[in-house]
Amino acid sequence: MNLSVQLAPENARGLLLANPVMTASGTFGYGIEYQELFDIQRLGAIVCKGTTPEPWEGNPQPRIAETASGVLNSIGLQNIGVDTLIAEKAPIWAGWRVPVVVNIAGETIDDYARVAERLDKVAGISGLEVNISCPNISAGGAEFGVNPDTAATVTTAVRKATSLPVLVKLTPNTGDIVAVAVAVADAGADAISLINTLKGMAIDIRTQRPVLGNIYGGLSGPAIKPVALQMVYQVAGAVDVPVIGCGGITNADDALEFIMAGASAVQVGTANLTSPRAALDVLEGIERFMQDEAIGDIAELIGVARE
Ligand SMILES: Cc1cc2nc3c(=O)[nH]c(=O)nc-3n(C[C@H](O)[C@H](O)[C@H](O)COP(=O)(O)O)c2cc1C
Repeated sequence: MNLSVQLAPENARGLLLANPVMTASGTFGYGIEYQELFDIQRLGAIVCKGTTPEPWEGNPQPRIAETASGVLNSIGLQNIGVDTLIAEKAPIWAGWRVPVVVNIAGETIDDYARVAERLDKVAGISGLEVNISCPNISAGGAEFGVNPDTAATVTTAVRKATSLPVLVKLTPNTGDIVAVAVAVADAGADAISLINTLKGMAIDIRTQRPVLGNIYGGLSGPAIKPVALQMVYQVAGAVDVPVIGCGGITNADDALEFIMAGASAVQVGTANLTSPRAALDVLEGIERFMQDEAIGDIAELIGVARE
């Protein structure tokens, strides 16, 4: 069976995954933490936590709240910063078979370009995922992703700063996600990942205060899957670059829905918080499905629901 997918067909360096199952940024640390728990080298790719030019402390606690069928988070891109990532994480990744994609973020367009430039020739990094979709920071992040023009400007800046494959991650908190997708594809994105979290909040009726320290957060998990699926279906019909589906994927059936909607790969996020080996279970479930249905190549399934 062939499960391999190429996520950057137009890029000289390419981004070839042995299979289409990735982990979603912010839910799988730097991958390193999970090595003890299962064979992470079997995954298609690992996307690490959002990385900024300087270390960030993130938002006040509490930063996670469970909801019916999902979680709200307002981490606020707490991270170690690009220099520590290069010094401490990349040398470990360089010895891995599984490709690592670094999710990058910033408050200004220049921040994105600086991080991209720093990571360009670093061994152990196979691609960048540009996070223009984080709802939990006061400047930058999703501000850039809600509008096609600013989304394209960030994409162009990152494209110029690196020869690495560039994935751009979209926010659902916008009026027209298809217009944003088309704009970033035209601006040179090698692939598009979607979706990041949906804006939300919760109130503790005992304290009569918002639950999250940041008041607002981003909703993820099974609750958002139908929304994500529809957006993936729409975007895959509108752009020529590979699309990566994300949002509420908990098992192989969920992942197969995204693939049939047109996603070349999928990301498993919140499901990692309840079962650290969720992504591997998704992969093994896809393999079983292909065996049962006598499908020899994952390409036969990508976008099949659209035909
Ligand atoms: C705790 C937490 C932290 C996250 N951090 C990031 C991040 O740093 N960068 C990013 O692009 N997305 C981040 N996300 C969004 C996920 O990568 C994913 O897009 C979203 O949660 C939807 O997928 P899911 O329902 O499978 O979790 C985070 C999500 C959670 C739950």
